[in-house]
Amino acid sequence: MEIRRLDDMQTLVSLSKRRGFVFQSSEIYGGINACWDFGPLGVEVKLNVKKAWWKAMTSRKDIEGLDAAILMHPQVWKASGHVDGFSDPLVDCKDCKARHRQDKLEDPTTCPNCGGKNLSDPRNFNLMFKTHMGPVEDSGNVVYLRPETAQGIFVNFENVATSMRKKIPFGIAQIGKSFRNEITPGNFIFRTREFEQMEMQYFVKPGTDDEAFEEWKEIRKKFYSKIGLNPENLRFTPHGPGELAHYAKAAFDIEYKYPIGWSELEGIHNRSDFDLRQHQEFSGKSLEYFDEAAKEKYLPFVIETAVGCDRLVLACMSDAYREEISTLDNGKEDKRVVMGFHPDIAPVKAAILPLSKKEPLLEYADKLFADLNDSYNVQMDVAGSIGKRYRRQDEIGTPLCITVDFDTLEDHKVTVRHRDTMAQDRVAVDQLASYVFDKLRNF
Ligand code: GAP
Repeated sequence: MEIRRLDDMQTLVSLSKRRGFVFQSSEIYGGINACWDFGPLGVEVKLNVKKAWWKAMTSRKDIEGLDAAILMHPQVWKASGHVDGFSDPLVDCKDCKARHRQDKLEDPTTCPNCGGKNLSDPRNFNLMFKTHMGPVEDSGNVVYLRPETAQGIFVNFENVATSMRKKIPFGIAQIGKSFRNEITPGNFIFRTREFEQMEMQYFVKPGTDDEAFEEWKEIRKKFYSKIGLNPENLRFTPHGPGELAHYAKAAFDIEYKYPIGWSELEGIHNRSDFDLRQHQEFSGKSLEYFDEAAKEKYLPFVIETAVGCDRLVLACMSDAYREEISTLDNGKEDKRVVMGFHPDIAPVKAAILPLSKKEPLLEYADKLFADLNDSYNVQMDVAGSIGKRYRRQDEIGTPLCITVDFDTLEDHKVTVRHRDTMAQDRVAVDQLASYVFDKLRNF
């Protein structure tokens, strides 16, 4: 049997639409550029990704969660450096009117769209979306849609430390929407203008930051193997001194081999005390921490781990996709499309497939569905041949298919078929819950 992996994004885009993972936003109006909606299965994958990340972070004794507002005091973005510095160099092609990021052009004198040589001088384009607070639109009430969730954490550093009686080192984790008016969004859900981030800021004593940075690199690498990403599709790249963001002392990217090639999945940054120092200065409030053990006051340094949830969903989907090609007895080619998700990430954990859609099989299957659906997202599928139904479940990555047949009515056993091996077990119905639990944990 030949295994083919995903090598173009379009295959994933089509599967996503056909099977309810991701739809283009506002599609009936012709769509809106670089905005996507997560469908019934996509939202499950996204929730599973968030759950895995949230658990990995907040199950630690030294990390607390937070959900800060998207709209923040405009001074936050002055202090953070985003108003003055969060911009990309934009060039316009005077011939075809296309816009490009100058720093991404292979040849900075040629338009990659039309090949023309008539590019404008670069001008800095701020990536923050602006809006107005209240009924009057004037410059006095401008607010921004946050371009990163991190600032909500920095401005709540004191609130969390005090209310939760945290001692340094400790971290704050947050999942939420961010917005960037990207000049060149694209590649499906890889780079969009509205996206979700999962960020964690770990506050440490200055001088211990290099060690904490190394520790977090290792912790984050392990997370990706735990949720089933193939290590061969991950690589770890330090930023050179010229590539560092305005706030970073050191940075390290976790890159994934997407169908578009190696690209950033997560950034790990040593942000030094840059953000707390800026907010202390702009707000006039001391953000110093009193370290009782050391009997000293200081501004903590911050190690940040920042990953885009949508980008991680894209990595999980790209990683999961495979086509199994075999030759049938009649010489024809057979293709089985499988989304080999880790069971924690799979949108549907089990499917109940009654061999007939008539009673009493249907009633029996309904009862099994209700029992399992209490603990897992389970689908019931009654339409078509059993072979077709297995294939439908393979294509959305369901780890287990449970067939209810006429013998079930007599022996109270069902056939459980495994997605990856296609092996089948006959399992007593009163053992089914523990069987499913065990198989999903040890897939
Ligand atoms: N607080 C630090 C920060 O925001 P970043 O490298 O700009 O750092 C972190 O963003 C992560 O957010 C990226 O690694 C990426 O996964 C995700 N991300 C950033 N811009 C994105 C976009 N336009 N669309 C989708 N995800 C994006």
